Amino acid sequence: MLILGIESSCDETGVALVQTQSAGLPVLLSHALHSQIAMHQAYGGVVPELASRDHIRRVIPLAREVLAQAEKTLTEVDVVAYTRGPGLAGALLVGAGVACALGASLGKPVLGVHHLEGHLLSPFLSADAPEFPFVALLVSGGHTQLMRVDGVGDYALLGETIDDAAGEAFDKSAKLMGLAYPGGPLLSKLAEQGDPTAFKLPRPLLHSGDLDFSFAGLKTAVLTQSQKLGEQLQARKADLAASTEAAIVEVLLKKSLAALQQTGLQRLVVAGGVGANRQLRAQLNAACAKRGVRVHYPELHLCTDNGAMIAMAAAMRLQANKAVAQYDYGFDVWPRWNLVDK
Ligand code: KG4
Ligand code: ZN
Repeated sequence: MLILGIESSCDETGVALVQTQSAGLPVLLSHALHSQIAMHQAYGGVVPELASRDHIRRVIPLAREVLAQAEKTLTEVDVVAYTRGPGLAGALLVGAGVACALGASLGKPVLGVHHLEGHLLSPFLSADAPEFPFVALLVSGGHTQLMRVDGVGDYALLGETIDDAAGEAFDKSAKLMGLAYPGGPLLSKLAEQGDPTAFKLPRPLLHSGDLDFSFAGLKTAVLTQSQKLGEQLQARKADLAASTEAAIVEVLLKKSLAALQQTGLQRLVVAGGVGANRQLRAQLNAACAKRGVRVHYPELHLCTDNGAMIAMAAAMRLQANKAVAQYDYGFDVWPRWNLVDK
């Protein structure tokens, strides 16, 4: 089965082709991505209307590109998958609309995919694919969740953020330090030259005894610290960045270890944009190696939003009989959609 996947939930347009195999995991044949970061940077964040318009411009050329790369034609596509949610409604409608138009014109079924399930299953695209069951740490710009994953579609929420997501904490702190959007990767780069112990920043809910997170207070602490520094902020920016990163990473690390202990599982999967963070990877790797826990990540370029994870999630759901592709092209999108309820 050949699956064309389309991702358009936020500020990246991603398209990919994944082929299922009679035995083993589906294989990624090709993928292409257009990031809108440069376009949104002038506004300091994503402008939803501009995002939708740009998805419209990019999605068909990207689809052509992945078909050409894989030496396939549209008529060979068996299922068209798209991100149904969560995300920006207008942006989601572009991917859903194009997917359903393609499906209708080809007479092929379509499948709406959960964006977070895409992230969650993206490590199965890497050479070192995980095996079920595992604990998943999902850390993106919009979500921070710990999950127990027993199989495709078999997810139990262990804990989640009660306010900001980890990516949001990176981005908002970076903005306070005058860094461009999205600040996560820039803050992390700057942090390499700083001292992570320079400023004492809060580790919210670290000792709460549950697996929930809270990052809103950290952003306020960064704001207070920046105001205190005043003119010195410029000179101490790397130290503040390193201290902020250390606070976020410590909370993510400790809660992930607690989730492993609570479930008794020996495998951790990290997915979502913040999973690209070097400090987080280094500290998780070290702590898990000590405990004999295997850690799996998506390949670096597939940590942030992309079409490959959407095509892969569709392929794995179809293969596991957890979803049936539909011939009903009256599409809808679900901008707010929980992958699992606690
Ligand atoms: O998964 P993703 O592409 O989009 C959502 O589904 O939200 O995640 C984007 C988030 C942004 O907040 C971005 O700043 C963060 O991931 N991010 C990072 C790094 N790379 C991306 N945060 C910290 N360090 C990084 N290296
Ligand atoms: Zn995402």
